Amino acid sequence: MIELKTPGELDAMRLAGKVVATALHAVRDAAAVGTSLMELDEVAAGVLAQAGARSSFLNYHPRFAPSPYPAVLCTSVNDAVVHGIPTGYRLRDGDLLGIDFGAEVDGWHGDSAISFVVGTPDPRDLELIATTERALMAGIGAAQPGNRLGDIGAAIGAIGRRAGYGLLADHGGHGVGRAMHEEPHVPNEGKAGEGLQLRPGMVLAIEPMFVAGGGDDYRVGDDGWTLYTADGSRAAHVEHTIAVTADGPRILTQP
Ligand code: MF3
Ligand code: CO
Repeated sequence: MIELKTPGELDAMRLAGKVVATALHAVRDAAAVGTSLMELDEVAAGVLAQAGARSSFLNYHPRFAPSPYPAVLCTSVNDAVVHGIPTGYRLRDGDLLGIDFGAEVDGWHGDSAISFVVGTPDPRDLELIATTERALMAGIGAAQPGNRLGDIGAAIGAIGRRAGYGLLADHGGHGVGRAMHEEPHVPNEGKAGEGLQLRPGMVLAIEPMFVAGGGDDYRVGDDGWTLYTADGSRAAHVEHTIAVTADGPRILTQP
């Protein structure tokens, strides 16, 4: 079942979204050559503590995972696409870093991700990230009442495929609310005009995951969580939690 949120509930969800945006900004500021991924996790945990918010990720144990998630942040470096567990790894010049973060405030969740390069960027990485961000904004733009889920996927998928990138198989966005993962699944590819009709009060996490090498396949790391590109190429992931409203999409995780 898909729960429609009232305008008052969307305002409550915006509070969670603000904490998420603040944490992502703080982590981005802290990410430099030599910073460890665990240090970034501590920065994000500090933002949660300051806001009196809870982590959406810590101890989260979905069916697909062998163990509860052990951190508040996902840190995915280079060929890691999503769900990278923060380790003692220290960032190196030119690393492409994906940061995914979720926070819960008053029982409502927010979920958002950014990707960026640490130190000296390879122009191809900047292009990959910019295209993934463009796809996110196109997907958000398609989240209009009366449109359908397929319109979101069609907008995202067209941008990724036209650029020659792969779209991570089996993964997409999701509903967000009192749980981080709610119905519906939001595919990153689809047919315009098909699928569930979007209605005011639906809250969706939209999250394109693009693979530079053009393949969609992945492998799961030894930690049981991290998803790596099968071809070893780099990947970018960006995400916002948005609400469908009568006035159009509202980005709840906007800074
Ligand atoms: N934003 C991620 C997603 O939607 C959540 C990471 S999974 C977790 O898949 F276990 F780390 F929470
Ligand atoms: Co998500």
